[in-house]
Amino acid sequence: MNKKEDEFMKILVTGGAGFIGSHTCVELLNSEYDVVVVDNLSNSSEVSLDRVKEITGKDLKFYKADLLDCDTLDKIFLKEHIETVIHFAGLKSVNESVDKPLEYYNNNITGTINLCACMKKYGVKNIIFSSSATVYGEPAVLPITEQCPKGTPTNPYGMTKWMIEEILKDIQLSDNSWNVIILRYFNPIGAHESGLIGEDPKGIPNNLLPYITQVAIGKRDYLNIYGNDYDTPDGTCIRDYIHVVDLARGHVMAINKLKENCGFKIYNLGTGKGYSVMEVLHTFEKVCGRKLPYKIAGRRKGDVMASYADASLAKKELGWEAIYDLEKMCQDAWNWQKKNPSGYQ
Ligand code: NAD
Ligand code: UFG
Repeated sequence: MNKKEDEFMKILVTGGAGFIGSHTCVELLNSEYDVVVVDNLSNSSEVSLDRVKEITGKDLKFYKADLLDCDTLDKIFLKEHIETVIHFAGLKSVNESVDKPLEYYNNNITGTINLCACMKKYGVKNIIFSSSATVYGEPAVLPITEQCPKGTPTNPYGMTKWMIEEILKDIQLSDNSWNVIILRYFNPIGAHESGLIGEDPKGIPNNLLPYITQVAIGKRDYLNIYGNDYDTPDGTCIRDYIHVVDLARGHVMAINKLKENCGFKIYNLGTGKGYSVMEVLHTFEKVCGRKLPYKIAGRRKGDVMASYADASLAKKELGWEAIYDLEKMCQDAWNWQKKNPSGYQ
């Protein structure tokens, strides 16, 4: 098919310079999509996009713009003839959201409303949204299926995901020519195999894997393990870690689903396997070839004991499943960290 005849070919990627966005740009370009990135670089660097071009040998268009700036957004839609939106842009620190709820609600929710209003104005009705397993709260069942009722997120960040899902559902209900896919990510880690793009947290990392890689590279003295008195085999919390490249591929498969005029859909993206904090640490130690110092700290407020996906719906309906295991995730994260000890700086 002539590329331009396919009405889904031009993809606007909001937050495309970020961790998951940059890996998704690689997969989109490799699948011959035209990519337009909008990112305000509040938590990322344009260098990631140069690296995306280096990996793929392909070009993309970048606008340094904020979703809160409606005029600029309007101009981008007017100029670019967008067909489909993948919406990653948002603030994502759980801790920070507790201290800055207004900033989080404004950035994530107002940003999404501005985006959807612009989409409506320009007749763009296909969107994939980055949600999170956090919407399940303390899960009612394990493994977690999409049928599992939404719980109560314990922080404003999680609440923004919870609410944006409802907003998108109502938009699609009001006009069934919209196609909305909500992807609920479990715990994305790892990096592109090339070591050219990866996770580049600002300041002290909140998340487990970037913290471990910084201990391994000597930036942090030791890992704090938040609680070893949970009702799990080794007492530490269990999560479903998923390679960021698998996650990125999931977005390309979701675009194929949009092409079927799928209406409103929700999919878990996880591997279906849960690993404890201790197991992740030991797997990373195996990969980097030495023991890493850690201390047992108290439980972290808001942590759920165990969270892992039933990802069979994504397999059945998107034809997607994760292929990389925990060791590969750790290898790629370590490769990225060694090659870029100070991230993109
Ligand atoms: P990230 O911070 O690396 O990427 C988000 C990007 O959005 C950044 O580049 C940032 O500069 C940009 N951005 C933020 N606010 C913006 C605004 N108002 N206008 C324009 N750009 C803006 O985060 P990530 O890990 O790549 O996450 C991507 C999405 O996936 C986020 O919505 C996040 O909440 C969601 N998510 C992430 C995880 C995770 O563990 N990484 C888990 C579940 C869901
Ligand atoms: N952990 C530590 N030490 C650390 C960091 C984390 O022991 O320094 C533990 C946590 O207590 C938890 C596990 O490692 O048991 C994973 O913690 P992360 O912060 O890496 O991930 P979370 O599961 O808490 O949160 C992630 C994303 C959120 C998302 C959530 C959905 O960061 O954006 O998954 O489940 F909402």
